[in-house]
Amino acid sequence: GLKIATIGGGSSYTPELIEGFINRISTLPVSDIYLVDIEEGKEKLEIVAGLAERMVKRAGVNIKIHPTLNRREAIEGADFVTTQFRVGLLDARARDERIPLKYGCIGQETTGAGGFAKALRTIPVILDICRDIEELSPDAWLINFTNPSGIITETVLKHTKVKCIGLCNVPITMRYGIADVLGVEADRIYIEYVGLNHLVWGRRVYLDGKDITEMLIEGIANRDLSEFPYEKEFLKSLKMIPCPYHRYYYNTDEMLKEELEAAEGEGTRAEVVKKIEKDLFEKYKDTNLDVKPEELSKRGGAHYSEAACMLIESIYTDKKDIQPVNTLNNGAISDLPDNVVIETNCVIDSQGAHPINIGHIPQEIRGLIQVVKAYEELTIEAGVYGDYDRALQALAIHPLVKSAKKARMILEDILKENRDYLPQF
Ligand code: NAD
Ligand code: G6P
Ligand code: MN
Ligand code: MN
Repeated sequence: GLKIATIGGGSSYTPELIEGFINRISTLPVSDIYLVDIEEGKEKLEIVAGLAERMVKRAGVNIKIHPTLNRREAIEGADFVTTQFRVGLLDARARDERIPLKYGCIGQETTGAGGFAKALRTIPVILDICRDIEELSPDAWLINFTNPSGIITETVLKHTKVKCIGLCNVPITMRYGIADVLGVEADRIYIEYVGLNHLVWGRRVYLDGKDITEMLIEGIANRDLSEFPYEKEFLKSLKMIPCPYHRYYYNTDEMLKEELEAAEGEGTRAEVVKKIEKDLFEKYKDTNLDVKPEELSKRGGAHYSEAACMLIESIYTDKKDIQPVNTLNNGAISDLPDNVVIETNCVIDSQGAHPINIGHIPQEIRGLIQVVKAYEELTIEAGVYGDYDRALQALAIHPLVKSAKKARMILEDILKENRDYLPQF
């Protein structure tokens, strides 16, 4: 059977992943899942592995769960390596969220200066993992979930020999959301995605193969949906479906106000997630529990395992179906370099992800995509080489920083507060 190695196995999302593999066992014959974590995550790992074992037993499938702190043992001979680790844990995320706020900038896990700090911490670790894969399982596919997912995937594809596809649950969640608004089954909806991870638009939407984009936008614009907190004039003129992360760009003032209020009150998202996690792990500990608990849906990563397992299944079975993933542009978007990673629909087969051609992108979104991509490219170089100049330029051009002086001050705080996690600097 197939050997899976999941790095960051102590994540509260792991039961979702296990559920995904259990549900697909007839087409995807997984026999061994190695859950890898580090010393700090040992307790979480043991709890999650216990639940995973009970889930597998209840389902009556033949999957062995191997919790381990030995990454090399897990990677050796693996068919698929999946990554869902968080360097510095939630404390580092809380700092990422609070530092930019000090300077009046958005502080977010993946978007803007917060995501930049997370990238700098994650890049040395992902490169290290890739060195293990190159040595111990050179044919393995790396399915990356670790954020910032697009940046981490591009780092791997530019700087290692590892075959890598990046994932996010946002595209699939957009599809479920639209199906919900229309009251139809999600598999009748097809979205033409264009953009980058956490900066992806639904350019056209089809129901049973019929283009319903205009009708849908009209409907969304005229209702007060919390998923689309925009003025109707804006949505109708955009003529595309924004993703949840676009609120940081289109509604920056409102989002900043919201973040500042939260930071003074209930806490930043990392601080709230800490509490959700604590409750979740209390549940996971219960030896009578042998299914994924409902409360996991309070986390943003819902449907994450569906995306991962669907992708792995299509690679393994050479399925040639279409899925939205993060992969090399290779000319799909004419307005971006070939060697950068985009998030778009791809044909998935045993050779990986083949993006469907897009051509030129509309002016309305071209500028934002290009500047954020340039920020991402600079961030990768800064993260790989420990290059202060590129780090500063990355932040200075980011649309959510917008000031060279603030960029410099934020960067200095990030470098200082993350010293233990930035061996490259
Ligand atoms: P988490 O804080 O629970 O971390 C997961 C595990 O990683 C922890 O058990 C931790 O001990 C472990 N870890 C930390 N450093 C490690 C290392 N060097 N090697 C191995 N394990 C290590 O995080 P989470 O909330 O479960 O999220 C995990 C990751 O997945 C984050 O990067 C998050 O941003 C990302 N995520 C991505 C998506 C997506 O759409 N791509 C969705 C959800 C979460
Ligand atoms: C969404 C995004 C993920 C992100 C998560 C945060 O699912 O796609 O990339 O990590 O939200 O959720 P959290 O519950 O950790 O705030
Ligand atoms: Mn390659
Ligand atoms: Mn995501």
